[in-house]
Amino acid sequence: MSTTISQDGSQTKPTVLVVDDEAGPRDALKVILRPFFNIRSADNAQAALDVLSHESIDLITLDQKLPDRQGIDLLQDIKHDHADIEVIIITGYGSLKSAMEGIRHGAAGYLLKPFNVTELISLISQTLEKKQRLDLIRNVLKSSTDLWGEEQAARRAWESLKTKYFAIGTHEQDPSGAQPDLLPLLSDLLEAKDRQLLNHCSRVSFYATLLANRLSLTLAEQKSLAIGAFLHDIGKVSLPNYHFSDEPILPSGESSSSKEHGETGARMILPLGYPAEVGQVISYHHERWDGSGYPHGLQGEGIPLLARIVSIAQMFDHLTAEVPGRSPLPVDQAIQQIALQANTYFDPMLADQFARVATECKASLPAMAIATTPSGV
Ligand SMILES: [Fe+2]
Repeated sequence: MSTTISQDGSQTKPTVLVVDDEAGPRDALKVILRPFFNIRSADNAQAALDVLSHESIDLITLDQKLPDRQGIDLLQDIKHDHADIEVIIITGYGSLKSAMEGIRHGAAGYLLKPFNVTELISLISQTLEKKQRLDLIRNVLKSSTDLWGEEQAARRAWESLKTKYFAIGTHEQDPSGAQPDLLPLLSDLLEAKDRQLLNHCSRVSFYATLLANRLSLTLAEQKSLAIGAFLHDIGKVSLPNYHFSDEPILPSGESSSSKEHGETGARMILPLGYPAEVGQVISYHHERWDGSGYPHGLQGEGIPLLARIVSIAQMFDHLTAEVPGRSPLPVDQAIQQIALQANTYFDPMLADQFARVATECKASLPAMAIATTPSGV
């Protein structure tokens, strides 16, 4: 069972807040969870917020229907003000749609009443283990800039982070002693900064792969594309107080955030040993076909092919993603906007191929905003 390590090194039980207006399920949850966790409870949204204002809570089990607010609204407030608290939705009114909505708004998981006790304990334990990893990364991001700093310092910072990260919980060790797959760590790094940033990166990797399926790329290029697209905005973890949903989006669909994030990201991943193409995608995904992009004003085929693909994929996601506070364009209009920017922003051949493949697949777009790391890489 997960434990929290306090600052003096002692291990304490994690604290779970049970939020449910019905006494029966609330008491049942308290009885089931009490052997493993410190328990607090609340029977409405306001009471839950009161607990959060004066107690340190690790995880919340949240009933979807509360007398004073919908659980999903409370979830959004909690994730906005306490991003490091994990929330598991427990509901008797479940459907796939509301489950997806909860997860899109940052819930770690979802259980239907009547719940299976083993599943409940196992979901809470896994979620708390993941929280330990995210908290570790949040502390690293807060306390040091070494990950994106000078090369030797960055190398040491990565080694230290990898050692601590893979010591948490149950990671399968490769008996050959080979390096563990770093994508779960990189995915958690994006999530620790901002869950919406991770979702954006996951979708961009999906859209880039969709377009790449129309091209004759080698297997090595396909892998570099999937990883590069997933990591294209990793440099944004270096930005203080960054929130994906606060980034201004220009009418063209482009985000107008820091122009350094491409080069910062490419520098960050240097010690990880990925192929050079991965770094090129990260560095050059804001270059434009007509030379008006950044950081170097590269032009036409002078921009690496994989970066030209990710340039389209990330723009399509900025146009279509459902992000709190923004109005997404319908897929058809987003496809038109990409087509209009062929020859200026985008490689015309790639823009044309993207319009074709997105039109064919539009019933299943935009891709669901569920955090996934690239598959098959
Ligand atoms: Fe970017």
